[in-house]
Amino acid sequence: MNKFTNTLYTNDNLFILNGLNSQSVDLIYLDPPFNSKRTYSAPVGSKSAGASFKDMWSWEDVNEFYLETMFTDYPFLVNFIQSIEGIYGKAMMAYITYMTQRIIQMHRVLKETGSLYLHCDPTASHYLKIVLDRIFGKNNFRNEIVWCYSHGGRSKKGFGKKHDIILRYSKSNAFTFNGNDVKIEMKSGKKSFGGKMKIDNTGRKYRLVYGTKNSKGETKYYKYYLDEGKIPEDYWTDINSLQSGVAERTGYPTQKPLALLHRIIKASSCEGDVVFDPFCGCATACVAAQQLQRHWIGIDIEKQAADVLVERLSDDAGLFKDFIHRTDIPKRDDVKEELPNQNIKEKLYKEQQGHCNGCDNKYLIKDFHIDHIIPKSKGGGNYYENYQLLCGHCNTTKGDRPMEYLMTKTNKRDELLRSKLTFGIRN
Ligand SMILES: C[S@@+](CC[C@H](N)C(=O)[O-])C[C@H]1O[C@@H](n2cnc3c(N)ncnc32)[C@H](O)[C@@H]1O
Ligand SMILES: [Zn+2]
Repeated sequence: MNKFTNTLYTNDNLFILNGLNSQSVDLIYLDPPFNSKRTYSAPVGSKSAGASFKDMWSWEDVNEFYLETMFTDYPFLVNFIQSIEGIYGKAMMAYITYMTQRIIQMHRVLKETGSLYLHCDPTASHYLKIVLDRIFGKNNFRNEIVWCYSHGGRSKKGFGKKHDIILRYSKSNAFTFNGNDVKIEMKSGKKSFGGKMKIDNTGRKYRLVYGTKNSKGETKYYKYYLDEGKIPEDYWTDINSLQSGVAERTGYPTQKPLALLHRIIKASSCEGDVVFDPFCGCATACVAAQQLQRHWIGIDIEKQAADVLVERLSDDAGLFKDFIHRTDIPKRDDVKEELPNQNIKEKLYKEQQGHCNGCDNKYLIKDFHIDHIIPKSKGGGNYYENYQLLCGHCNTTKGDRPMEYLMTKTNKRDELLRSKLTFGIRN
């Protein structure tokens, strides 16, 4: 356990993420709002009464201070996001930008052996997959899990929309996957698995499944013993959504079943690992992690979510005697905190080869100011990576604003880049 874990944060996860150490968590499960254009509220009289969150998006939701990393590190993604406006409209573009800013940070805090599960639905899963392909690398895409359920209303005008999508990515090839810990029963019925049912001479039932022929014309076959169970397929039909009246239900809107989180946590983390849910709602992932002897970090922006969550964490089988509830932004301790000083100025001067990061003009070192790229008031820290040199004029123009503001005011970037940088930004 480190100083960041077994902690519930009430704040915007973008700020909290920015204060977490790189490569510090083993598993990220996120269940963000899906861009459903609704506001979700808990029923009056439920444990969560008063809790609500909105799922409608506009450019106001995008934090412009955090756009710079997208522009510099993921220019193709910027092109893609811009094109969403034409295909689907401004709200989707804003939602995907909002998610991208956070996914970039999640990728940073995830360990090399870690995995991320993004829970969404068909409204935006196809756009989110492209974002994840770019940030995690398309080769680190592991599964598109289709979680099927049967509760809730049905339309008469089409097939019932009864599944969510969970996109699973790893950070590298060396990821944790404990298939044996999540095995389910292999049914003996004909439909369940295919192949021929057989019994060996000790009386154990198995299925004989034939594969394809190899170059020598030999057919490969596989034996699956029924009593060994099977790793679930990528469509999950055995975990239903929570009905009212079920004991674990708090009434918090969109609460997910513990069984779903148990499967994910067991498969992709080990005891003692850190499970992180940056959109934790009523803390289902944190409760499941604690039950499975993992450490956890949860974040939710809504104060009401914290109230339910504190109650739930204290309640649940007395599991949670020691946890921390914070509203402030944590400080990374994996990077050296340094106040702006002459050494930093000289180092940056060499790095920028005497050019201003705003107007690109050359100046003497004495004419430069050290600027916080992300201002401290927006979660930016006193770290070398967050410093740059600006000339006096650019420094005054930028003030406490995002870099994009300064860049749109200077004429030094070529037309293409400038048009990118103005995307979505209010005048
Ligand atoms: C779909 S719900 C999560 C439900 C959760 N999985 C559960 O089982 O209770 C999404 C949550 O994200 C939270 N949220 C939205 N934007 C956020 C942000 N920027 N930072 C932190 N939490 C946020 C909402 O308040 C809401 O509780
Ligand atoms: Zn300048």
